[in-house]
Amino acid sequence: MQRSLAPERLATLVGRLDRAPAYRGLCLALQELIGDGRIPIDTRLPSERLVAAALGVSRNTVTRAYGELVAAGYASARQGAGTFATVPMERRRAHDHALGAAKVADGAIDLTCAAGAATPGTAAAYARAVAALPAYLSGDGYLPSGLPALQARIAAMYARRGLPTSAGQIVVASGALSALAIVARMLSRPGDRILVDTPGYPNAMGALTVGGARLVGAPLGDPLGDTGWDLDGIEATLREAAPRMAYVIADFHNPTGFLMDEAQRARYAAALEAAGTQAIVDETLQATRLSEAPMPAPFAAFSPGAITVGSASKLCWGGLRVGWIRAPQALVERLVTARVQLDLGSSLLDQLVVAELIDAEAVFATRRAQVRRQRDALAQALRTQLPDWRFRLPDGGLSLWVRLPHGSATRLAADLERDGVHLAPGPVFGVEGGFDRWLRIPYAKPEAQLVEAVRRMARAWSALPRERGRQPAAARPLIA
Ligand SMILES: Cc1ncc(COP(=O)(O)O)c(C=O)c1O
Repeated sequence: MQRSLAPERLATLVGRLDRAPAYRGLCLALQELIGDGRIPIDTRLPSERLVAAALGVSRNTVTRAYGELVAAGYASARQGAGTFATVPMERRRAHDHALGAAKVADGAIDLTCAAGAATPGTAAAYARAVAALPAYLSGDGYLPSGLPALQARIAAMYARRGLPTSAGQIVVASGALSALAIVARMLSRPGDRILVDTPGYPNAMGALTVGGARLVGAPLGDPLGDTGWDLDGIEATLREAAPRMAYVIADFHNPTGFLMDEAQRARYAAALEAAGTQAIVDETLQATRLSEAPMPAPFAAFSPGAITVGSASKLCWGGLRVGWIRAPQALVERLVTARVQLDLGSSLLDQLVVAELIDAEAVFATRRAQVRRQRDALAQALRTQLPDWRFRLPDGGLSLWVRLPHGSATRLAADLERDGVHLAPGPVFGVEGGFDRWLRIPYAKPEAQLVEAVRRMARAWSALPRERGRQPAAARPLIA
């Protein structure tokens, strides 16, 4: 989708201009903003005259800056239409996030997946579920909206979080990703627009667009700052693009770890309402808070029409493949119809296991201390061994979003593969690529592995400038 950038907004994003010389400072600032996805690809940049006025520089300066930007591959000039943001071909997003287990050599550390081992008590819950199974075997086993006992437990979890919910509002799905596929199947039509954060979770982007919808990326605010969402930008995009849906990860956003506060939730929800845009809220990481601070109220408490998806994957275990949809009662029948066309229902045994395990606080409390230790061990190792890599320590989620001081994360990730560390570089998370200064480093693995991974990262990083000629290896599939 094409959109335009107001000159005042460009001036705010550029901030203080390095004037030695000014055209070069402007070109580099724009390069960074486009590369980081804060100016989305295909955005029409303001005319040279308006930028000159907004920045207080000569028109010549802007003409030269735009010229250099085009030469560097970060903009294209279209006859009669203006100058548009783009990124060099090799930094475009790798469209190969096929789900599937990648092969990892012995001794290699796979940090492409932000998910940990099963929560303690999972095997015992399976044993209890097997014992309960005979009561169900005389039935046909198809439960398109879910196992009633599990629907009731999930509804009770929402009620405890301050969002009254009946069991009938819950549809159990085979994981949050599958839940998103059901929602997209019900709601989206070819050519629809879906607002997504960029960077964001790539598999959700894939699930939401299978029916031919198109993504509109809403750049997040400074990933090293504390504000999270750029609500001015989101409101402008909603007005301009009028997307049919918006996909929102308000709770420990993947990959940045941002948590949306209640004031932001209220403002975002009001903007969606004004634009007539359906909120699809992904709460997969909701229960991963690492401090004792209370969580904000669920996004749907501010947006009564929102459809929310959740998951047992981070709370209990990804191997269960159980997630759910919470929807306004009026939409449930259509959701179940869409679901029946997809997979008829989720595994009954796994639903029994989740019904045994699920109790957000009790379950996650047992792992919170462990995950916090892992996060801190990773942060400490990075600070000691790679002090010029920058990140914000998130209070939840399962990964750090790390900025390299220079160079390409894609190239570093390719070199690290050969050193036995598998990581997802920034462009994997961008709607259209960009983010090549960023790496997502999950802390879902044991501390010793994280420390060893950082040791290998430091080695690869120090060797990087001497190995610029190498071709990036093929990108690996990203799962969680
Ligand atoms: C934001 C987000 N949504 C969905 C998923 C997939 O969840 P599930 O395993 O329930 O399909 C993940 C996995 O990491 C995620 O981070």
